[in-house]
Amino acid sequence: MTYAAITGWGKCLPPAVLSNDDLATFLDTDDVWITSRTGMKERRISHLPAVELSYVAARRALACAGLAPTDIDLIVYGSCSYDEMVPNTASGLQYKLGATGAAAMDVNTACTSFLYSWSTANAMIRTGVVRRALVIGVELISRYLDWEDRAVAVLFGDGAAAIVIEATEERTGLLAESLGCFGEARGILRIGGYGATYANVGVPFGDMAWTFDGPQIFKKAVLGMSDHSAKALAKVGVTPEQIDLVVPHQANGRIIESVAKHAGIPMSKVKMTVHKYGNMSAATVPVAMVEALEENQLKPHAKLLMPAFGGGLTVCSHYAEWGERVTPKDVCDVELAPCDKTALQLVNEIRAAKTLDRSRAAIESAYCVDRKPWGTQ
Ligand code: UT7
Repeated sequence: MTYAAITGWGKCLPPAVLSNDDLATFLDTDDVWITSRTGMKERRISHLPAVELSYVAARRALACAGLAPTDIDLIVYGSCSYDEMVPNTASGLQYKLGATGAAAMDVNTACTSFLYSWSTANAMIRTGVVRRALVIGVELISRYLDWEDRAVAVLFGDGAAAIVIEATEERTGLLAESLGCFGEARGILRIGGYGATYANVGVPFGDMAWTFDGPQIFKKAVLGMSDHSAKALAKVGVTPEQIDLVVPHQANGRIIESVAKHAGIPMSKVKMTVHKYGNMSAATVPVAMVEALEENQLKPHAKLLMPAFGGGLTVCSHYAEWGERVTPKDVCDVELAPCDKTALQLVNEIRAAKTLDRSRAAIESAYCVDRKPWGTQ
């Protein structure tokens, strides 16, 4: 039987750090509220398009696997904050990497997008469609936030991470998942302002307005993550006691504690990053996984449980078994272009940009992968 081993991993966090005190300079909020309700202290704000974060994470993951971009058959790009809708962002990453042999697709299930992308690529490897895939979890949520709405502005941050998975006959990698959706509750987390609903009808495209019922999302998240974790483990006959590390979606420290309690897994076995990166949506699980490896918390043959939820409300939990190797085969020295602004300056620029009247050409030259000098590489 064919499985899909995890052979490479890499992350990319933009350098600019936005603190709770920074948020309090323009919102009616404070460090005590944010810390006590969410566990968050800081988050990152990107000075570059999402494809650039993805590119650095992907190059690091490929080096870790000892592969070249041309070895990859498939790129699955998990996100809900694309640089562009058409063409898809995965094709921009394929182009920038020079992964000329790879199919490239975007998957959007909001915060669960990385895990659904992994399921997609895993299934395609296990059924023989492709042999080597790059799976990305990336979010440039700072460009989609309503920065004047304190109910959402304090919760999110930008980031990216990638894994490489490869066909193997060894029983390893993603072995079971349980996927679901509370479609009837999709209206409790909605970003208005993009999509066909808002196109050509007089609504300023890109004028983001969130509908966000935090307490209802919180309840559904705990219910869904707990239920799907139990179902995923039942599929492989693994008990919560056998889990070595939980790598959950990081939307709120209190949600994670509730899910761990429901599962009967101590917090000492849960990887937490919410305090330093906030909710990076699709990027939270892969970034936490990469950090667990870097910090020696993820050991050879570890049994991992990865519960998540997101807008939709999509829910899932994934069970994976790591292989023998927990160190990179190689490292790559690619870095993001330097950032000469503070995170607060970047956020204030996004806030001010709402009122700027910029030409379409100026926007495209700043954000489109094939309109920039490096796009011609
Ligand atoms: O990954 C998918 C997206 N993530 C989520 O959906 C997260 C799920 N939900 C949550 O994590 C929590 O519900 C929140 C952190 C969003 C909110 O925490 P809560 O304990 O459920 O607070 P609440 O929404 O019930 O609000 C309590 C109070 C309200 O004031 P009143 O009505 O009691 O006077 C809010 O207006 O806190 C107020 N509030 C704030 N105060 C200071 C809401 N946001 C803020 C803020 N700073 N940023």
